[in-house]
Amino acid sequence: MNPENIITGLDIGSSKTTAVIGHAVPAGAKSAPYLKILGVGQARTTGLRRGIVSDIEETTRSIRKAVEDAERMAGMKIDTLYAGIAGEHVRAMISKGIVAVNGDEISKADVDRANDVARAQPVPQDRELLHAIPQEYSVDKNQGIRDPIGMIGTRLETEMYLVTIGASPAMNLRKSVERAGYHVRELVLEPLASALSVLTEDEKELGVALVEMGAGTTDIAVFHEGKIRHLGTVNYGGNNVTSDIVQGIGVTQADAERLKERYGCAYEPLVDPEDVLQLPSTVAQGERHIQRQVLAHIIHQRMDEIFNLVLSEIQRAGFAQRLNGGVVITGGAAAMQGVGELAADVFGTGVRIGLPEENIGGLSDSVQAPRFATVVGLALYGAHRSAAGFAPSGRHRALAGVGVDRFTKKLKTWLEDFF
Ligand SMILES: Nc1ncnc2c1ncn2[C@@H]1O[C@H](COP(=O)(O)OP(=O)(O)OP(=O)(O)O)[C@@H](O)[C@H]1O
Ligand SMILES: [Mg+2]
Repeated sequence: MNPENIITGLDIGSSKTTAVIGHAVPAGAKSAPYLKILGVGQARTTGLRRGIVSDIEETTRSIRKAVEDAERMAGMKIDTLYAGIAGEHVRAMISKGIVAVNGDEISKADVDRANDVARAQPVPQDRELLHAIPQEYSVDKNQGIRDPIGMIGTRLETEMYLVTIGASPAMNLRKSVERAGYHVRELVLEPLASALSVLTEDEKELGVALVEMGAGTTDIAVFHEGKIRHLGTVNYGGNNVTSDIVQGIGVTQADAERLKERYGCAYEPLVDPEDVLQLPSTVAQGERHIQRQVLAHIIHQRMDEIFNLVLSEIQRAGFAQRLNGGVVITGGAAAMQGVGELAADVFGTGVRIGLPEENIGGLSDSVQAPRFATVVGLALYGAHRSAAGFAPSGRHRALAGVGVDRFTKKLKTWLEDFF
């Protein structure tokens, strides 16, 4: 195993921090490149509010715990990682670059030059350029060209999708990671990372909206003809659902969270009116019961509101009628019963719940839940980067038996045999 191929993804969310360590396996004679998952770690956190670090100490603690757990499972130490970033401070814009073609045929150098021009936008002091993604090219008067290399023409124009982020949220994120003892190789936009682990190439080609509902925010990424076309954020998420339950039935935050995860349903018609739940209660309150339908009603209303905000965002961007690949819901909140049914009602398209499934192997069972979409995507992004020659600068060293429990060792041996 080449240590340069060991990739770590780190997702710091508003409810939990997760880390995934994987081995980027290059394409074989019969197989496509994929990420072999070696270790996964999680830690609850409260250090982030809507994508912005509000408590560096707490964020640092959760990073250390998540990465150390993943390291123990993988049986190795890492030092460099790909960290996710999201939130309201993210902005996207389209930028064009025009160059004269050197010679008769368009060469890679021409394309690079056009992309450099498009990328060379002045970025304000308080912002950072995060991603520059080539969309499509025009050669002379012909538009919508995906790969212009080898074509004949005199004028080459490129269209780039530029994503910028707030400099201070980025700085605080890096600082938290560095304080935990790791180095950020790159920051990556979370919904783009999730798209890597959850969406199929066909969906992106046909037109799809990825809706990631986390605790604090719901992120939207629209793809069409294989390219990212729109990014958006709705400032509501699973936390709002929990608060409504606290208000609506008078339980503590922690109990509301438990009730939601265990008995919640986002689509009221799915719940049997006969279903009754016993509520946690104090001695003074005495025994309390509610119909499960009451819980579902509260959740249904809030989720319906959030999905409608998402729909408005997609409509504003002009893609509501172009989602032939449907809508894919992911993020922790997508694990709830009835989410698919409710979303199909609101969006009027095909809907599926997205789990990280694309291009992964190894201990992939440990990440089979929508809340792992981002972190797996971050590691996949790193794997793509490493395959493209941007090998991570990090080293890793085996733990030489110390701290590796026998179970992990056995699993590793089994995996080596299997693949
Ligand atoms: N089984 C479940 N049923 C209902 N809701 C769930 C379930 N599991 C997790 N959630 C909810 O998902 C949310 C957390 O999702 P996720 O882990 O994707 O968020 P995050 O990445 O921490 O937050 P964010 O992306 O908003 O910063 C919480 O509101 C949690 O209550
Ligand atoms: Mg998240």
